[in-house]
Amino acid sequence: MALRSLSNQQTAVCMVLIPEGRNRPEDEKTVRQQSVYALRSGSSLILSMGEGPFCIPHPFRNFFSGIRQPESPVQSERMINMTEIVIISGSPNAASRSERVLGYIGGLLEDKHFTVTHLSVRDIPAEVLFSADFSHPSVSDAAGKVRRAKGVIVGSPVYKASYSGVLKAFIDLLPQDVLESTPVLPLMTGGSPGHLLALEYALKPLLSTLKGHALKGIYLTDDVIDKNLDIPVLDGDCLARVEKQTAYFAELVRRQHSRTHA
Ligand SMILES: Cc1cc2nc3c(=O)[nH]c(=O)nc-3n(C[C@H](O)[C@H](O)[C@H](O)COP(=O)(O)O)c2cc1C
Repeated sequence: MALRSLSNQQTAVCMVLIPEGRNRPEDEKTVRQQSVYALRSGSSLILSMGEGPFCIPHPFRNFFSGIRQPESPVQSERMINMTEIVIISGSPNAASRSERVLGYIGGLLEDKHFTVTHLSVRDIPAEVLFSADFSHPSVSDAAGKVRRAKGVIVGSPVYKASYSGVLKAFIDLLPQDVLESTPVLPLMTGGSPGHLLALEYALKPLLSTLKGHALKGIYLTDDVIDKNLDIPVLDGDCLARVEKQTAYFAELVRRQHSRTHA
């Protein structure tokens, strides 16, 4: 075979092997098709002629001039997964337990090559929240980030058997459908397991008013959180639950993203 091309969407590498001195018009057409496919899908493009990789045979030089150097598979994976996750912290407390856990989850997602943006109710001036100032730039900026997100995580402490009042004040300022078709992972931390169901009767219904698709969610009690540790969840079972829910959320976001970009 004068020209052999291999492409694999999973590993996102397209390889085109071109034996030296045997370029025919039909070979050029296949090289073009494979290369366009590879570059559109964010794949690495490996060209090989004879012995060495990245040797571009003469007839194709013009076509390839100006194209960036092939990247490593890791960089390619990063390109494909440039998906924005927004994490909203609903705690008014600057040294917040729930926010620390959200930070840890954000790190897990970054390890999976997602881009993560952190928002906090504390980013919005108190008078804006208090007067429900929909037109304030901090509100439109936050709403824009949430709307563009491919996945959203919302965390809150339990306050008087529900989410925090300031989280509600913030959510009230967001447009009605801002989470439409968006996977949402809810998280709550509470002083005791007594209000575990606040996830079900309070936070999830709140998120559904914004048309988010809420996942099962995570509830952690204070005794399993240490804000000062790199991994702030002390209990092995709880940590496994956090990591499992995060992995499931990531998978859902990725699947949804590839469906809309198919
Ligand atoms: C005003 C207030 C009300 C609270 N109400 C509850 C409650 O009803 N149920 C509960 O389990 N914990 C309650 N807690 C404890 C917090 O939910 C818990 O400490 C939480 O982890 C704090 O999260 P944060 O550090 O992110 O703000 C309350 C704490 C405060 C300050």
